[in-house]
Amino acid sequence: TLTRHALVAAISGIATVGIALQAHAATEVNLGHTLSDSSHYSVGADAFKETLERLSDGEFTVTEHTSGSLGGEREMIEGLQIGTVDVVITSTGPLGNFVPETYVLDLPFLFENYDQARCVLDSELGDELLEKMGDHDLVGLAWTENGFRHLTNSQREIATPADAEGLRVRTMENEVHQEAFRQMGARPTPMAFPELFTALQQGTVDGQENPITVIVATNFWEVQDYLSLTGHVYSPAIVLGSPILLDGLSDEERGWFREAAVASAEATREEVSRLEREGVALLEENGMTVKTDIDVAPFQEAVQPAYEIFTSEYGTEMLERIQDKA
Ligand code: PAF
Repeated sequence: TLTRHALVAAISGIATVGIALQAHAATEVNLGHTLSDSSHYSVGADAFKETLERLSDGEFTVTEHTSGSLGGEREMIEGLQIGTVDVVITSTGPLGNFVPETYVLDLPFLFENYDQARCVLDSELGDELLEKMGDHDLVGLAWTENGFRHLTNSQREIATPADAEGLRVRTMENEVHQEAFRQMGARPTPMAFPELFTALQQGTVDGQENPITVIVATNFWEVQDYLSLTGHVYSPAIVLGSPILLDGLSDEERGWFREAAVASAEATREEVSRLEREGVALLEENGMTVKTDIDVAPFQEAVQPAYEIFTSEYGTEMLERIQDKA
């Protein structure tokens, strides 16, 4: 019997240790984005990781996957829906394909400056759009930022829409952006970001458009000579979660994810602002010819039909609400 008691005690001891280990095993959260680890998205990802790990006291650990190692933004959003990735930082570029209500945010010249855009996204209107993600198997955690987009190319200096005539410009996989470039006379080519550098290098496309942050983080000066500060569209970004992970959590745990996403957005916006101040000089130092004094009025006029096409399909309500606030 002594042997039997010893055996029972040993087994129950092992079981207790096993349960304790299980209770303390951290859940790994896989976070993906398409930019390099020196980018504004990585600054945001680091803040997300630090905040979630601190708030949850190690219950969650965050592993960052950068540079599109989990695919382009459209693929990663699909990954959230099927649970192959847990958190994604993405521009709204491909998001309209999943949540059409967000297309409005991609209209050219909708916002005039950062304060305006941030203020609208931080308002109840931004919250409403975050909530909409729930109707499409996504969890909207916080609005973050990519930045105002500018045009780069390998061919010539662009100062007017006429200069962009016939230029093969890579756009995001976003129908509002494609329409705007078509109206400008360019030849839009939608493409996932991870394919872009090679496409520019091989001359499949002549140009692309992205914020200073992205142009800096991707060393685009190696393949693009000209930058025109068109600021033709504000590019919002969003921290999205997978319902497959988040729906199974307690309210408190979900709250940590939201808080981490807000901290991520704050850190990202700060980095965007810093690069807006310092990035152009850095690009010039690396050999880019930068056209700064662009008259945006002709660009605004050229893209106007994109508004009509948008409103005929999606209505005017959200657009008017944004314009009232901006
Ligand atoms: O051009 C894009 O696809 C996006 O701006 C990027 C660089 C992936 C950041 O969200």
